[in-house]
Amino acid sequence: MKKIIVAIDGFSSCGKSTIAKALAKHAGYRYVDTGAMYRSVALYTIENKPAEMAVEPFLEQHIGELNIDFSVQPDGSQHTLLNGRDVEALIRTLEVGNMASQVSTIGFVRRAMVAQQQAMGREGGIVMDGRDIGTVVFPNAELKLFLTASPEIRAERRFKELEAKGEHPVMEEVLADVNDRDYRDTHRAESPMHQTEDAVVVDNSYMTPAEQMDYVIRVFEERIKEQK
Ligand code: DC
Repeated sequence: MKKIIVAIDGFSSCGKSTIAKALAKHAGYRYVDTGAMYRSVALYTIENKPAEMAVEPFLEQHIGELNIDFSVQPDGSQHTLLNGRDVEALIRTLEVGNMASQVSTIGFVRRAMVAQQQAMGREGGIVMDGRDIGTVVFPNAELKLFLTASPEIRAERRFKELEAKGEHPVMEEVLADVNDRDYRDTHRAESPMHQTEDAVVVDNSYMTPAEQMDYVIRVFEERIKEQK
C-alpha cells in the first residue's frame, strides 16, 4: 500500500501534536513535530546569544551549527535532540515558545528548517505538523488537515498544561499570548499560516479527543483507498 504524506497545520494549542502522534501510530508512519524544530532554534538562541547582539545577526552566524533530530524512546514517545542533547523538556516553556514565534519569522531560519523537513518526508509515510506544512513544505501532500478551536478554549488548554508543569500561569496573560501568537503566525511576511482549499478542516472546540480521532482516522483511511 502506498505510504502517503499527511500535513497537519493549525493554530497553537489546537491539539495538533496529539492527533498527529495518534494518527502516525495508527498508520505506522513517522511523526515529525516541526514546532519542536523552531523551539530548538529558540532555545539555542536563548542559551548562546550574547546580550548585546540582536537575534537575526546571531542566527545568521550560527544556524549552520544546529543539528535537530528526534529520538524514539522505549515507551514510543519522541524526544527532540539539539546537537545530540535531549532538549524535550527545556523547549516546552512559555519563554521558549515566545522566542520560537520570533525566530520562525526569519526567512533564512525557515528555509533551513523546511529543507530538513522535506528531506525527512522524501519517502512518504510521514505525519508532519506545523504552520506551513500543507502550504510550503509539502504542497502536494496527499492529505492535508487544518485544525482549529476557539482562542478561549485553546487558552484554557494551555493554562492547564502550564499548571501541570508546575508553572503559575495567569489566565488573562495566557489568552493574550494565544491571541498574539495567532496574529504573528497568520500575519508574518514569511510563510504566514493559512488554510488551503484542499485541506480538511477540523474544528475541535467541542469535540472529545476520541471523536476527533475517529473522524481523522476515517478521513485518512478514505484517502488511502483513493491512492492508486
Ligand atoms: O507548534 P508550536 O507552538 O510548538 O510552535 C512554536 C512556534 O513555531 C510557533 O510560534 C509557530 C512556529 N512554527 C512555524 O512557524 N512553522 C512551523 N512549521 C511550526 C511552528
